[in-house]
Amino acid sequence: MSSAVWSELAALAKAPLNLRQEFAEDPQRAQRFTAKALGITLDYSKNLITQGIWQQLLQLAAQSPLQAKRAAMFAGDKINNTEDRSVWHVALRAPADQPLQLDGEDLQAQIAACRAQMYALVEQLNSRRYLGYRGEPITDLVWIGIGGSLLGPQMALEALTPYNQSPVKVHFAGNIDGAVVSDVVKPLNPATTLVFVASKSFGTEETKQNALAVRQWFLDSGADKAAIAQHFWATSSNIKAAAEFGIDASHILPMWDWVGGRYSLWSAIGFPLCLTLGVAQFENLLAGARDMDTHFRDAPLEQNLPVILALLGVWYINGLGCQAQALLPYSHYLRLLPSYVQQLDMESNGKSVDVNGAALTDATAPVIWGDAGTNGQHAYHQLLHQSALAVPADFILPVKVSHHLADHHHRLAAHCFAQSQALMQGKTIAEAKAEVLAQGGSAAQAEFLAPHKASPGNKPSNTLLLPELSPYYLGALIALYEHKVFVQGVLWNINSFDQWGVELGKQLSTPIYQVLSDAASHAFDSSTEQLISQFKQG
Ligand code: F6P
Repeated sequence: MSSAVWSELAALAKAPLNLRQEFAEDPQRAQRFTAKALGITLDYSKNLITQGIWQQLLQLAAQSPLQAKRAAMFAGDKINNTEDRSVWHVALRAPADQPLQLDGEDLQAQIAACRAQMYALVEQLNSRRYLGYRGEPITDLVWIGIGGSLLGPQMALEALTPYNQSPVKVHFAGNIDGAVVSDVVKPLNPATTLVFVASKSFGTEETKQNALAVRQWFLDSGADKAAIAQHFWATSSNIKAAAEFGIDASHILPMWDWVGGRYSLWSAIGFPLCLTLGVAQFENLLAGARDMDTHFRDAPLEQNLPVILALLGVWYINGLGCQAQALLPYSHYLRLLPSYVQQLDMESNGKSVDVNGAALTDATAPVIWGDAGTNGQHAYHQLLHQSALAVPADFILPVKVSHHLADHHHRLAAHCFAQSQALMQGKTIAEAKAEVLAQGGSAAQAEFLAPHKASPGNKPSNTLLLPELSPYYLGALIALYEHKVFVQGVLWNINSFDQWGVELGKQLSTPIYQVLSDAASHAFDSSTEQLISQFKQG
């Protein structure tokens, strides 16, 4: 990054900063570096920033084209310049009376028609009035899709488990690993199973093959073509391909090229969630996202949660050279959030050229990883605390929970807060020595053990407190990360909405598959040749 502000920041990055000392010297630090919106609290005081650094980072955002690009996104401009597409997932949660015109078409009418169809199907399934080909009510839904066509509903369905009120059980099949789809259908009865093929392109190999396998499972059970038509639904922007697959035109819910796959939970891709939550709670999810959109659009930079998260990320990646970012929800129900944000962030911003195709000199997206706390504390937190790597972490904790084990929740929260505290303050050699002595150890033991027991501290983190893990707050949380990714894309001047990098692997798999299945012969590099030959020998 090259700007006067960035030069200032680069100089500030070299100055030592001790978080423990910063907290000791400034009793207002937590208050100073906390922002609140929609009832969500973001405490970002345990980050490697001073007032000076933070003001420069805010300047970086102020001097960037953020305002104009954000307005362009909200207006539905075609900011995905390599695919000439609008990036208009916010339209899917816009107020129903907001005019949404694109290329002369009324999107509100299209969205409303799609929702009406979704809601009618949800109502039929949940009232057990949608019958299978043998006249029995549907008991199971198999959702076939991958990437953005699966991760969102799968994560959100887990996250909102206590809100599940549907008699229909949802099963997800994504991977081309045959174990997935065969395990999914094994316990199911085709006569009471509805199948949804979710693919924006309707050209994704995994989804097509899994859909074919499930169709065959139907045929093997004695179902005829008419029965299959009754049991198969799709959501796609490629209506032609879905129809060619054999899905009845009245069973195809639209997707639109103005919604990216990893931003599509708000479209018919959210159907499994809508089914399990019911329409009213699905609308609450949309409302949470909509309120976060409004906050992102209108709040000043210094109070703007997505902007704050984005600036801190840029500071770590480009200012301090951190390459990873841990996402640590202290909520069992949010355990799939890291996988979801992996696609959202890494598929959006893992780029090496800017919007004009010029090579970037700076790193972009972090490696996102993580899992639910406290599990990680007994696995990888050792590295977070004592390794030389600095991995900024986002802790996420819902304040209120639906289960009755209040003491469990106090313990969970205590661990969440203790982890960020421990990462920040660490333990000095002197403290470690004193601890050994206080536990009855000898001076020699204290001398020997202290370096092993000490923790460097000064490890950064954010803590996000959600009032509760409800549909509304989940919607807001997802939109928060969507907009964080957007802001970072603007600061790096990249197109966050294409994903050409995933194409090469797909292309190369075709000739390899042909050789593995003896359909053709091709020459490859010696390693690939060797692997193929070994595999074929069994
Ligand atoms: O391969 C990447 C990708 O295109 C993702 O961006 C997308 O979410 C996923 O595959 C699934 O695509 P589709 O919905 O078209 O099947």
